Amino acid sequence: PDEIAVGELASRMKKTGAEVVKCLMKNGVMASLSEIIDFDTAAIIAEEMGCKVEKEVIVTIEEKLIDTAEDKAEDLEPRAPVVVVMGHVDHGKTSLLDYIRNANVVSGEAGGITQHIGAYQVEVKGSPVTFLDTPGHEAFTAMRARGAMITDVAILVVAADDGIMPQTVESINHAKAAEIPIIVAINKMDKPTANPDRIMQQLTEYELVPEEWGGETIVCPISAKTGMGIDNLLDMVVLTAEMRELKANPNRSAHGAVIEARLDKGRGPIATLLVQNGTLKQGDVIIAGTAVGRVRAMTDAKGRKLTEAGPSVPVEIIGMGEVPGAGDDFHAVADERMARELVEQRKHEQKNAASSPVGKVSLEDLFSQI
Ligand code: GTP
Ligand code: MG
Repeated sequence: PDEIAVGELASRMKKTGAEVVKCLMKNGVMASLSEIIDFDTAAIIAEEMGCKVEKEVIVTIEEKLIDTAEDKAEDLEPRAPVVVVMGHVDHGKTSLLDYIRNANVVSGEAGGITQHIGAYQVEVKGSPVTFLDTPGHEAFTAMRARGAMITDVAILVVAADDGIMPQTVESINHAKAAEIPIIVAINKMDKPTANPDRIMQQLTEYELVPEEWGGETIVCPISAKTGMGIDNLLDMVVLTAEMRELKANPNRSAHGAVIEARLDKGRGPIATLLVQNGTLKQGDVIIAGTAVGRVRAMTDAKGRKLTEAGPSVPVEIIGMGEVPGAGDDFHAVADERMARELVEQRKHEQKNAASSPVGKVSLEDLFSQI
């Protein structure tokens, strides 16, 4: 192309018209949004605004850096399901996972309350399944929402002696919003006060009608204490996941979600990542929101070292320059320098967004009225 409209240039660069008009003015070119400018001018403006010009095409750094190409069907391979365990506080989510993976996390928790998302991959009947344990305490709504957004199936844990409580309802809503199937586990069936019929009755009020009552919701009575019913629950989880035919392409650079991140005094930022597509390798440069870094070391939930993590694998990594935001997407990228550039751009945009006064008429508004 040897010319381009200012408005199109703006949308190509994912900038506002006002920003582009301003930048043009700074370079001595007075042009409105609808005006056509020559490509050489556009290229100067583009470089100045943090884009790349290649073979006469203007691309944002983000487009150049991050591979968002759709996978071809033949490149896809089956991947492990990611299952989120949700429910009201103390209904037995962590105990259930402890039983499944033969561990004892509950006893190490302060006051027996889960305060972060645990991520584990476990062999279930010979195939791997990734579980996310979420907190049930009311303070952790964002974690529950995040947990539901990145998973394939939800196990809703309801204590048989307590019934549906506020965070049970909240969990149902998160799972529905994320459009993932809900399997109900009625827990604490070993207790003499367990009343599963009452819970099934309550479930119907939230459009979760048990299969045995003619509905579509799988309901499994279990006890995380004795292990009763857990085998059946796992069968149901695997079956439900199989029906979704979950696939990913392990042979590309990794992309996924930051589940959690914190700053460790000795080791620096530590992030728990869930790889959703591709394979993450030790040494990879990754960008997550405004954080960038290199994967210096990777471990699984048991602290075992990994050099690679494929789709659906949760890992803890060290090597980020700063603590990434929980819930951010991460991407492994090929060019560290460009990744740093993109991060600077993102920080700049955040600062601008935070400081730009709302309600003021922008240049863009003015131009669109002409
Ligand atoms: P938060 O993560 O804080 O929301 O709690 P949680 O849902 O993970 O519950 P947790 O597994 O910590 O269990 C809470 C309490 O219930 C603990 O004292 C467990 O020992 C007990 N508990 C869990 N499952 C069972 C069960 O099946 N039967 C009985 N009797 N007690 C259980
Ligand atoms: Mg817990």
